[in-house]
Amino acid sequence: MNALSPVSPKPDHVAEEAVYDFDMFLDDALLTDPHERVRQILRDAPPVFWTPRNGGHWIIMGHRENYEASRDTETFSSELFPSEILPGILAAMPGATHLPLPTPINLDPPSHTRFRAPLNPAFSPKAMIARKEEIRALTNSLIDAVIEQGHCDVIPAIAEPLPVQVFLKMMGLPIERSAEFRDLVHEFLSPATSMLDPFLRMRKVADAMKGEIEARRTDPRDDLLSLLWKTEIDGEPMTHETMEDFAVLLFIAGLDTVINGIGYGIRHLACNPDLQEKIRENPKLIVEAAEEILRRYTFTVPTRRIAKDVEFGGWQMKEGDKLMLYLPGADLDEREFANPEAYDLGRENKVHIAFGVGPHRCLGSHLARVELQVVYEQMVARLPNFRLDVDKPAKFHGGNIIAIDSLPIRWD
Ligand code: HEM
Repeated sequence: MNALSPVSPKPDHVAEEAVYDFDMFLDDALLTDPHERVRQILRDAPPVFWTPRNGGHWIIMGHRENYEASRDTETFSSELFPSEILPGILAAMPGATHLPLPTPINLDPPSHTRFRAPLNPAFSPKAMIARKEEIRALTNSLIDAVIEQGHCDVIPAIAEPLPVQVFLKMMGLPIERSAEFRDLVHEFLSPATSMLDPFLRMRKVADAMKGEIEARRTDPRDDLLSLLWKTEIDGEPMTHETMEDFAVLLFIAGLDTVINGIGYGIRHLACNPDLQEKIRENPKLIVEAAEEILRRYTFTVPTRRIAKDVEFGGWQMKEGDKLMLYLPGADLDEREFANPEAYDLGRENKVHIAFGVGPHRCLGSHLARVELQVVYEQMVARLPNFRLDVDKPAKFHGGNIIAIDSLPIRWD
């Protein structure tokens, strides 16, 4: 049994009936079979509840409620760090002159809209489909490295290196630095030991890209850094600081997410040899198969801060309360999806919110889809039927991403 985080006292404005005890980081059942636990919570708790764990915060599980809250940015703010605390944090970071914050995910409209606009063209469906064959070649080289051994841990062998290499290529960073960036991903994802940790890590990520960012200012190439240098925000030229803010967000948002998307998909396929065969016979099925995997195993949990007192989901919430959009719950909510635990390629309603909804809807969804589809397709095409390694069960960790740390599989 994990030692759970301490229980915080219930604030007066939180109704007794709104309380449900769930530690989203350390809950044992979540770390054993994540989406089974999510289904259990949907059965046992109200669609919106308050948990006393991790400092005390709201969790929205229901689909309709997640949808509504994600679109109401005036009440449910993405500005999680009040601007007055930022100078103090910067002062505590030796030698740092800029605190890189993941932009625009940390902003509310209208600022959000202005900072997101320059990124949109680079992530269009057309731009991402153009990368498909390059992504396939990278995937195949990773499969080549393990195919003869008859087994692998999917996470370090494929799920981590692929998005790192795609990220380096897109950004125009040297592919020879893959190992260094994988170490940065590891460090970034390890549990924080102080409040300063996330900021120090974001600074480190920005520092790793600093030289290349500057180099592209005067020597543009065909990459994302060069493209971003050419854009203007409110008619003002780009600054090195804003470039760092964008770069840090793309690092955070594009790596950890795809790693887990690959993990959940391969885990589902490993448990369902019939599906592997079906896709092998008809590769066109991959698009729908990947979408249903995203719905069935939605894994991201964005945070919001309550910006003004509000009654929501039947409960009183107060300005300053913290809230989690528990999207894995939304996509398993039986009020929205009939028989939600079934993996059903023929389901009528296929509109999941694994990529979020509202102004912050995932900018990288088209890239993510290409990466996921290519990996599932190549794994099924190149390997004979693969299965979970019964001696080495998958390992998970909780938090804002319900993550897979290890996924050993075998094939004959
Ligand atoms: C399966 C993979 C992925 C999933 C499930 C996913 C999920 C999400 C979700 C739920 C959000 C909304 C966050 C919020 O409301 O606060 C988001 C935002 C975002 N994602 Fe993704 N993501 C994935 C892959 C990617 C990739 C590959 C990139 C590209 C680098 C990316 C870039 C972003 C960015 C930049 C945002 C912020 C958008 C904004 O604030 O306007 N994501 N993602």
